[in-house]
Amino acid sequence: MSVEQVRLFYALWPEAALQQALYAAGNKLHERCGGRRTRCENIHLTLAFLGAVEPARLPLVTAVADQIVLPRFEMVFNRLGWWRQNQVAWAATDETPRELITLVKQLQQGLAKEGFKFEERRFVPHITLVRKANCPPGLIDSPDIVWDAKEFVLVRSTLLENGPHYVIEKRWPLQTMEA
Ligand code: 2AM
Repeated sequence: MSVEQVRLFYALWPEAALQQALYAAGNKLHERCGGRRTRCENIHLTLAFLGAVEPARLPLVTAVADQIVLPRFEMVFNRLGWWRQNQVAWAATDETPRELITLVKQLQQGLAKEGFKFEERRFVPHITLVRKANCPPGLIDSPDIVWDAKEFVLVRSTLLENGPHYVIEKRWPLQTMEA
């Protein structure tokens, strides 16, 4: 990444109270699995990771989101778990809403059309709560954490010595559907 480039990703960003509920769930994972907790104010769900982008191309990135008109949706995060291969411990949902998949697909397609490379990994919705985790076998009890997603955001990430620093560049509302 050259000095001028910026590291970007689209995400769902929880409100502070929800970040705290997720952080508390992360504490359970941390007690059990060790590792490094995601700082409370950094907790999010990544939709599409773009990586390093020339600042001049930022308008193309935001134009993709400008095209998106989708409804709000609700998610229930009811599963805590971890992936051994990357030592990430997370919160996830048993029922991924269709709207979430559509939102990710539309972002990916729009970005691909503009020639952006985005995350090559298949989209598996999760909220990273602990890194460098090493969990013993067995299920981890999870509370039901309800997230009413009302907007999505573009985030700029700067990697600092004490971890990543995230700044929300722009927000886009999800629509309230008429009854
Ligand atoms: P993760 O939590 O599963 O690691 C900012 O780095 C966000 O982008 C993180 O939530 C991270 O997901 C996600 N991300 C997706 N692909 C990435 C990649 N190739 N490099 C770094 N972060 C990536």
